[in-house]
Amino acid sequence: MRPEVVLVVAVAENGCIGHHNELPWHIPEDLKHFKTLTTGHAVLMGRKTYQSIVKRLGKPLPNRYHLVLSRDPGWRPDAGHEDQVQSVDSIEQALWQAEMRNEPTLMVIGGAEIYRQTLVLADRIELTEVLAQVPGDAFFPSLHLPDWQREVLSEGQTAEGLGYRFCRLSRRRD
Ligand SMILES: NC(=O)c1ccc[n+]([C@@H]2O[C@H](COP(=O)([O-])OP(=O)(O)OC[C@H]3O[C@@H](n4cnc5c(N)ncnc54)[C@H](OP(=O)(O)O)[C@@H]3O)[C@@H](O)[C@H]2O)c1
Repeated sequence: MRPEVVLVVAVAENGCIGHHNELPWHIPEDLKHFKTLTTGHAVLMGRKTYQSIVKRLGKPLPNRYHLVLSRDPGWRPDAGHEDQVQSVDSIEQALWQAEMRNEPTLMVIGGAEIYRQTLVLADRIELTEVLAQVPGDAFFPSLHLPDWQREVLSEGQTAEGLGYRFCRLSRRRD
């Protein structure tokens, strides 16, 4: 069965999600929320986002199976990460691999190019609204809001006073 497709993303008020291949903010609460949502699941990402994760952590995300999209047939994860990381050359191949692994859910974790291509497939969006206008060079596509039922799960602010809101958007089926 095709897995449920869930986009997990943090988006500023102006649609910004990234700058210079990094997150343009530091929201520890959101990193924790991201970990809770994604741990134990297959995660799909673009090669650039994968590289930014490895740059930040020095390794892939623990306890998650990584499907990394690249058009380069020679792209491979670094030695030692092959058990946890597989390269795929299309969204269709990623869905197929997740299905073959009996994954009930495929978590799409960015970046901008991948969100643009998977939004049409998404059943749910786990959206962190970052309550600020943020400069950057990577943006989330605009949503057709009537397609989505929005539920606010919780909200808060960082020690520095940056507000955020954890939301769940479920695709309307009626
Ligand atoms: N705020 C958030 O929640 C969040 C989450 C994740 C990422 N981000 C940010 O997003 C930014 C990165 O986004 P990005 O758009 O620059 O890069 P990206 O989406 O992470 O990766 C793009 C790469 O994916 C591969 N790719 C894309 N479509 C493909 C397809 N259909 N088939 C095969 N391969 C495909 C290509 O890799 P090759 O070049 O190897 O062919 C392409 O260069 C960073 O700033 C990052 O920090 C933000």
